[in-house]
Amino acid sequence: MTLAASSTLVAEQLADGLGRVERAFEAQLTSSFPAVDELCRHAERYRGKMLRPTLLLLAGIGASEDALVITESHVIAAATVEMIHMATLVHDDVLDEASVRRRGATVNFLRGNETAVILGDYLISNAFHLCSKIGDPSLNVRLGEVTNALCEGELVQLSRRHDLALDRPTYIEIVRRKTAVLVGACCEIGARLSGAPTPVTQACYRIGERLGIAFQIQDDLLDLTGDEETVGKSIGRDLEKGKLTLPTILYLERESAQARVAVLRAIELRDGDALKSLLMKSGAVDSAREFARSLVEEARAELTAIRQPQVRLVFDSLADKVVDRAN
Ligand code: IPE
Ligand code: IPE
Ligand code: MG
Ligand code: MG
Repeated sequence: MTLAASSTLVAEQLADGLGRVERAFEAQLTSSFPAVDELCRHAERYRGKMLRPTLLLLAGIGASEDALVITESHVIAAATVEMIHMATLVHDDVLDEASVRRRGATVNFLRGNETAVILGDYLISNAFHLCSKIGDPSLNVRLGEVTNALCEGELVQLSRRHDLALDRPTYIEIVRRKTAVLVGACCEIGARLSGAPTPVTQACYRIGERLGIAFQIQDDLLDLTGDEETVGKSIGRDLEKGKLTLPTILYLERESAQARVAVLRAIELRDGDALKSLLMKSGAVDSAREFARSLVEEARAELTAIRQPQVRLVFDSLADKVVDRAN
């Protein structure tokens, strides 16, 4: 069989695995209280890109020594990471006062902040409950570290709101914690559940972490340059909430004091169109995109950790989609 044909098989296997993940997710999220169950059904109606479960399953089949099997533990772990992710989104939409998510209304828009806060807690609680069913306490410990880092990233970001002195290393560290640590853990855990040795699981973590930082940079670019219809969620929230992102940081880093005045004014006035136009014209948007691409290349350089060549091929094309995407 050719490599292309066997990567088609991988894609089919992945689609089947993701179907199992959705069923595990739904089976976990049920309540005998109609008011709670209705919210659970709302949470699962809006499917996102399923990036995190996809990476976990792909790393799982790619790191296995022989047969490409998606085990029940992979499925449960993949449903867990998607549930953790969804919890963070439900809370994030409260913080960002966002009304649109996954082409639908956010929980806070429909039911208010109180419900969204508790639903987010309910999702995170269910995620750890579900993970416990794998029966490997070290997985719960690892995911606890991940969610701690994620919350730290969000808290540091909050502490630096409206701070025009936010520098590039701090921005990258915020993004690494709030987004990339979870993406890295997805790749690591997928490989670990396939019995991969530590050097392989560590390389898988690094692949995911690099991709995760690139993914958030692209997300921030879409918040600045995209439109709500295409992106499928509220945009312009970073400017509104005083979050400085990479194009602005790069611009402020390299432009003259005189050139900086117009950008600082656009930020002060929350003028998204003016900010977008200044950052695009100056090349700062392109530079941020190039930086994200360089992280994808760093991830690609470690793809040899994915032992199965046909899975490596699928990983390779997924890596590009992290930055080449419109939603
Ligand atoms: C959105 O994540 C939040 C970020 C970390 C940028 P996704 O873009 O993966 O959201 P869904 O799951 O596809 O909706
Ligand atoms: C949130 O970042 C990242 C999380 C860890 C939830 P954003 O605020 O940029 O995510 P979106 O754009 O609302 O999806
Ligand atoms: Mg947000
Ligand atoms: Mg965003």
